Amino acid sequence: MDKTTIFLSTSLKGGVGKSTVAANVAFQLAKAGASVLLCDLDFDVRSLDLIMGYEDALMFDISDVISGRCKYSDAVITDKRAENLCFLGAPYKFSNDLSCEDFANGIKKIAEERSLDYIILDTSGADTFMLKCALAASSEALVIASHTPASLRGAQKSAELCEKAGVRPRLIVNNFDYSSVVGGKRLGMIDMIDTTKVPLLGVIPYDDRLIYAQERGILAFGDSFISHKAFENIASRILADKTGQRYVPILKGVKKINRRKVLTK
Ligand SMILES: Nc1ncnc2c1ncn2[C@@H]1O[C@H](COP(=O)(O)OP(=O)(O)OP(=O)(O)O)[C@@H](O)[C@H]1O
Ligand SMILES: [Mg+2]
Repeated sequence: MDKTTIFLSTSLKGGVGKSTVAANVAFQLAKAGASVLLCDLDFDVRSLDLIMGYEDALMFDISDVISGRCKYSDAVITDKRAENLCFLGAPYKFSNDLSCEDFANGIKKIAEERSLDYIILDTSGADTFMLKCALAASSEALVIASHTPASLRGAQKSAELCEKAGVRPRLIVNNFDYSSVVGGKRLGMIDMIDTTKVPLLGVIPYDDRLIYAQERGILAFGDSFISHKAFENIASRILADKTGQRYVPILKGVKKINRRKVLTK
């Protein structure tokens, strides 16, 4: 694979699964053989280290690396489950001595020096300084929404910000609740694409096992997670952009979802 592709995981709505998607898509990309760096740019909340199960392993963070206070190799954590997955955490306390441009250039420099295939930047649910930095560093966006009207509005706004910054947005519908769509209570996929006006990259079912696993730093891996295949499909579609292979169908192997029924209400 050639140049590093830098993604941000974003939505202006909180709690829709930005960090969950960033962590699990990064993991699946690494499992598929790509070299991946996952970065926590949600400096206010810093939840990605917990989701990844690295809580006590962090000594330095991404701002230390970019401002030259430590070496990349001192700050980066290599995942034990996928050796080509690395992680840079967010600072415990952030003193803002760097400009947005410094940050974006720092991330791009890491991309160049480390010959990574992908960098995934997790951002917060607000239009913060760090979101601007992430937009300046990235060329692609994973815009996360669930099928509530408020989150779709958040996704639409996020996509507008991405387009303004020259970043290509693609929609990931998370927490997809099959029964509520079939029962006519919630929007189907075509309505969601129409509402957000963002092309669809993936659909992740609501997976209650994921919630408890995540509290213990366990990622969605294995057949006991109904979301596992959905993350795998998203990673496969991202990889296909570089390899030129055909996209796998969005719901390939995802249990309990009937493709035809979920397209419309
Ligand atoms: N597909 C899913 N099925 C069930 N629960 C999910 C799913 N995706 C995420 N969650 C749960 O939703 C909650 C919020 O997820 P997450 O922290 O990833 O959201 P976020 O958008 O990053 O939030 P924030 O805006 O606070 O950064 C977590 O408890 C997570 O386990
Ligand atoms: Mg988050």
